[in-house]
Formats: sequence, structure tokens, C-alpha cells
Amino acid sequence: MAVVISGRGSNLQALIDAGADPTYPAKIVLVVSNVPGAAGLDRAAAAGIATATIDHRDFAHRDAFETALSAALSKAGAEIVCMAGFMRIVGPAFVTRWSDRLLNIHPSLLPVFPGLHTHARALAAGVKLHGCTVHFVRPELDNGPIIGQAAVPVLPGDDEASLAARVLKVEHQLYPRCLRLVAEGRVMVEERVATLPGGDAETGAQLINPSL
Ligand code: GAR
Repeated sequence: MAVVISGRGSNLQALIDAGADPTYPAKIVLVVSNVPGAAGLDRAAAAGIATATIDHRDFAHRDAFETALSAALSKAGAEIVCMAGFMRIVGPAFVTRWSDRLLNIHPSLLPVFPGLHTHARALAAGVKLHGCTVHFVRPELDNGPIIGQAAVPVLPGDDEASLAARVLKVEHQLYPRCLRLVAEGRVMVEERVATLPGGDAETGAQLINPSL
């Protein structure tokens, strides 16, 4: 699999760390950034993973950028592509090329708060639970079959930074878990819904805020 990033790369790091377990079913063959000098590139290099920078500003059209990106991913032998803090909207041709093998992590419990500034919007809306979603990518922004979600409480006194940090912590747990399920071929997609046949019928976990 390959990871595409635009920045810090802490989710990339979580995927790198998961891959240190020899039983983990996905191996990162390439990390691509559309932003030159992104910190995540250093994380990949430190782990001995091949990196590439494909700067979208070098292309006249989005399609040309995405064709170059797809070519690099294919050439590296990627079968699954994980977007991890990749801050570009991808078009229908790219999504079709990687159909149901293109994953994204988004910092909200979709379908609420698609787009940017999710933590500030969660605070402004007064929700009591917030979190993150790993989903298959569809051409519509932050919309696609949901593979997994992790929820955290919104606590009194939270600001954007504290809430973002709480969500990020569970992002790092959720993404490797979801990628594992996809790489093992356990996730089925029908129309707009992803399911996990034979998955846990009862997780036993509940998150209630304010707590009982
Ligand atoms: C993460 O919180 C990720 O969910 C978010 O950007 C951050 C990247 O952090 N992604 C999006 O907002 C996508 N629209 P990272 O570079 O440290 O993984």
C-alpha cells in the first residue's frame, strides 16, 4: 500500500508503526507528498520507506496531477492507497482508478462536519461526542462508505487544540485497525455502505457524555 500526505504525517507514523509487526497484512511501498518538504516525508525516510514529492502546483490541471500521482503509485506496486492528512480533493477518474482501495481519515464523525475546521465546528455546535472516521473515498468530499469510527467526549473547557489532540490520539488507533481489515479483504462494500461480515456483534463499549 501507499500513503499520500500533505503535512505532519502523524497518521502516517501510526501506519508505519503498525507495519513493524510482522503479522500486519499491509506494507508501505511508497509515501507521496504533494507539498515539498512535508514533515511526513522525513518520517518515511527514517523508516526506510521510498518517498516522492509530486507538487500539484507543477501541473496545469488537477487531472494531470492525479494522472502523475496514480502512475507513481502504480509503479511502486501499491494496491491500496491511504490518504493521511492529504489536503487535496481528488477527482472522479482518480477515485475510479482506486475504487474501494482508496481510504481517507477525516477528523469528525461523518456525515457530520465534512470539510475543514471540524473541531471548531463541533465546539460551536455543542456536540457532546466527536471523533474521526476512516472511509472509502468517493468523488463527493468526505463522503463514502464508512469503514470505522472512533468517538471521544467533548469536555467542559475544551478548545480547538485540546479537542483536536484527543481526536488525533484515536485517529492513530483507528487507521491501522481499518487498514488491517481492508488489507485482509474483510470489508465488503455495497453501494454506499461498507460492512464487516463476521465482525464483532457486540463490542461491549459505550460512550456516554456526560457520564452516567
Ligand atoms: C488529521 O487530523 C486528519 O484526520 C486530517 O488532517 C490531520 C492530518 O494530521 N485530515 C483532514 O482534515 C482531511 N480532510 P497528520 O498529518 O499528523 O496525520
